[in-house]
Amino acid sequence: MTQTSRPFLPFVKPDIDEETIQGVVDVLRSGWITTGPQNQQFEAELSAYFGGRPVRAFNSGTCTMEIALRIAGVGDGDEVITTPMTWVSTANVILEVGATPVFVDIDPATRNMDLNLLEAAITPRTKAIMPVYLAGLPVDMDQLYEIARKHKLRVIEDAAQAFGSTWKGKRIGSFGDLVSFSFHANKNVTSIEGGALVMNNDDEAELARKYRLQGITRTGMDGMDCDVLGGKYNLTDVAARVGLGQLRQVERFTQKRRELARAYFDAFEGGAAVKLGVGLPPENFTDSNWHMFQIALPLDRLKLTRAEFMEQMKARGVGTGLHYPALHLFTLYRARGFKEGMFPHSERYGASTVTLPLFTQMSTDDVAHVVASINEICAQHG
Ligand SMILES: Cc1ncc(COP(=O)(O)O)c(C=O)c1O
Repeated sequence: MTQTSRPFLPFVKPDIDEETIQGVVDVLRSGWITTGPQNQQFEAELSAYFGGRPVRAFNSGTCTMEIALRIAGVGDGDEVITTPMTWVSTANVILEVGATPVFVDIDPATRNMDLNLLEAAITPRTKAIMPVYLAGLPVDMDQLYEIARKHKLRVIEDAAQAFGSTWKGKRIGSFGDLVSFSFHANKNVTSIEGGALVMNNDDEAELARKYRLQGITRTGMDGMDCDVLGGKYNLTDVAARVGLGQLRQVERFTQKRRELARAYFDAFEGGAAVKLGVGLPPENFTDSNWHMFQIALPLDRLKLTRAEFMEQMKARGVGTGLHYPALHLFTLYRARGFKEGMFPHSERYGASTVTLPLFTQMSTDDVAHVVASINEICAQHG
């Protein structure tokens, strides 16, 4: 068995540098630890990163998407089109605002929503489209916005995984409608937990500010009003300081991830895994930020279940992840009438995908060990 004397390799690990750690200590000592100057600075630097578009930061990617839906006026009776191949929060927030998720199957080549199926899912009740950029790979943004414009639909981009990704050289978030990011601990850029919304104008940014904190507006030294129903979604300054330290390194992070992804493709070439039919991700080195490197197991040929495969990897010192089972088969969604067979590509991919280790402090030697382990398992159990 491929040797395990090396330290256990997790599938993800945050990369927080000493300057950021010191910055957090300074914030903790500053006397102001919740939303304040660091949050303001984080929003300003994010806005600059996205070409000057207004940005607000929140305490999760989930609430960021929910606020985006509210800003877009999505509510009771509306339909929002999305994909079942995503983290469940994408669909949950649609339910949260009183709307109905309508799913479109993925294109197995990209693992993202198949835009060629999108128009058939549009009804008079459709209010918005919520594409997801799985593993950081954007959809065809020209096609997406052409369809949205034609049908006068809002677009809420679930770009949770796509910080640093681009489309035709332009950063995801620097164009488009409402663009939502997550800074969850596993994301390329993290604030431990957090999120940010890129918007179109100051009116939307002001609404976002209100939704973030109880709908409150302050007027003068002692005046206060509440005119919309907001929540408690503000980002602490401690978290914002982590985010700032991360944002300043995003180009290095993306570059390193691309190198590791390239090393994966090179290591897989001609090995037992690909011979058995292990599916590799789309080989995109122009747009993707390589948030994840996900394979699809050939479960019809491998004499192991996915859980057994993951156990075998663990025994070889390699952590793996699962992103994601097709969400329409979760109990909450089955109770709403969704069932097997409705989105076959998502179901097949969701049942066979495994996420391999990919993080900036990994080496190409680690990549070689991961792939050697997979080849060994495929040779033994194929
Ligand atoms: C595709 C996708 N959408 C939404 C989210 C939600 O973000 P968060 O965990 O920050 O709430 C995540 C991250 O977990 C995600 O990967």
